[in-house]
Amino acid sequence: MLNLDDIETLFARFGAEQYSGEPVTQLEHALQTAHLAEQSGADDALVTACLLHDLGHLLNRQGETPTLRGIDDTHQYFALPFLRGLFPEAVLDAIRLHVDAKRYLCQANPGYLAKLSDDSKRSLALQGGVFDATQATAFLAQAGARDAVLLRQWDDLAKQAEFATPSLAHFLGRAARCALMPVAQTTLA
Ligand SMILES: [Fe+2]
Ligand SMILES: [Fe+2]
Repeated sequence: MLNLDDIETLFARFGAEQYSGEPVTQLEHALQTAHLAEQSGADDALVTACLLHDLGHLLNRQGETPTLRGIDDTHQYFALPFLRGLFPEAVLDAIRLHVDAKRYLCQANPGYLAKLSDDSKRSLALQGGVFDATQATAFLAQAGARDAVLLRQWDDLAKQAEFATPSLAHFLGRAARCALMPVAQTTLA
């Protein structure tokens, strides 16, 4: 299990890497997603899920734009064992479901698919494609699905060059507020 200092170290070590096919780094994408959530009044758990939703990319690094090589890095699952015990299920559920939320939104919102970035369209196919109506209903019945849909919509907007956000320390402070005891007793808490 990671602690908050480990997460800070991961972003320090790998956060400057480019987000595949997008004009932002991994850290910028994380901060922008969390910032958009915060601006919308999301609670600590959802802001934290937004900050960490792509942490799996940093833990399971596949090099430049793996979707072009037909690789699905399953990043929505990869970070979960490292975060379980540190954060409540609400944080883990939103991270776990953020890829399925894209598959859901493509089914539920006409026009959503066309607006996805090229890399998101490529990964969609590798991740199983658009849900059918039955799959969409089953998705929404899961705990955390609504938060995952919100996360996904901020995620899609968090790929902007030159977009000012609060610092990583600010969002780790919010993460500390929803961390489970006794891990909350960190230097950031
Ligand atoms: Fe993602
Ligand atoms: Fe993302």
